[in-house]
Amino acid sequence: MARANLDWENLTFGYRKTDCNVRYTWRDGQWDDGVLCEDENIPVHMAATCLHYGQECFEGLKAFETRSGDVVVFRVDENARRMVASCRKILMEPPPEELFIKAVRRAVNANRRFVPPYGTGASLYIRPLVLGISPQVGVKPATEFLFVVFVTPVGPYFKTGFKPVDLLVEEFVDRAAPLGVGDVKVGGNYAAGLRATVAAKQRGYTEVLYLDAKEKKYIDESGPANFFVITRDGQYITPQSDSILPSITNKSLITLAEELGLRPQRRSIAVTELPDFAEAGCCGTAAVITPVGSITYRDQKIVYSTDGEAGRWTSVLYHKLRAIQLGEEPDRYGWLTRIDPD
Ligand code: PLP
Ligand code: COI
Repeated sequence: MARANLDWENLTFGYRKTDCNVRYTWRDGQWDDGVLCEDENIPVHMAATCLHYGQECFEGLKAFETRSGDVVVFRVDENARRMVASCRKILMEPPPEELFIKAVRRAVNANRRFVPPYGTGASLYIRPLVLGISPQVGVKPATEFLFVVFVTPVGPYFKTGFKPVDLLVEEFVDRAAPLGVGDVKVGGNYAAGLRATVAAKQRGYTEVLYLDAKEKKYIDESGPANFFVITRDGQYITPQSDSILPSITNKSLITLAEELGLRPQRRSIAVTELPDFAEAGCCGTAAVITPVGSITYRDQKIVYSTDGEAGRWTSVLYHKLRAIQLGEEPDRYGWLTRIDPD
């Protein structure tokens, strides 16, 4: 099938209609066989638990065309597992890992013409979600669930691409509480942070950096991504916290950092330590690796990049990760799953 006619090099990170999505329903104690559906709308009962009580979670992963022309997805098994954790935490029926992977294959294959060509910098973003769909008025879990996977071709999350961004340390809004749901990918976490992100953008910052909600002393993560720093003596450090999302990109960078001799470590990072580091970055599926040019904390601006470019180790990590995703380097850790045409 001919590839879709899109301006692949200039795609933004936004929703774009593709050919179809895939939907499975949990009812009477089982998942059905799922359907491929052209409709972009979901009929939802007005008393569904996803609408009132936030029984919703989602995932984000990417498919790429490799240098040799294969279509691959990156670490789909990890996203499958994380969706199980998200569902369990808010008492939803988790799609089993095999079903998750099958649904991703189906959605990608049904939209193969939207997989961006190798070399364009774009990717096919895959967005699985689970919703509580049965009606409840009392605060109770749903008994029926909808599992949807849609895809959309995307460019960089931050419009500058691989260029340093400016972050603002957020002191007045918490994204997630210590014993709350910050460690799973539920929609409410993003709703909680919207007002912080919008206000920061109005002040000219790219995103916020949240502090731990209890003490306001330690860095948690950014709105849409995890956070890491590189020390002056070349060490990769990323926050240890129970209220951040366990990022699959970060987990991958820790592996690559180890390989590169960066002695990766997860530990609490005090906000007062920020001036001591050589480089800082955000990482996530959408953000990939985004170098951080500056972080503003109260009236102090800590600058990591003065020339508008990423630091040395941030660049090395970025290019290594991208090379693996695009099949330019051997997939030594088995991170890629090939999606063969049906
Ligand atoms: N943190 C938050 C709040 C996110 O939304 C994401 C995106 O998924 C990440 C971190 C990065 O996670 P991953 O690398 O698995 O995409
Ligand atoms: C992702 O990186 O996949 C995410 O879900 C982040 C989102 C805020 C776009």
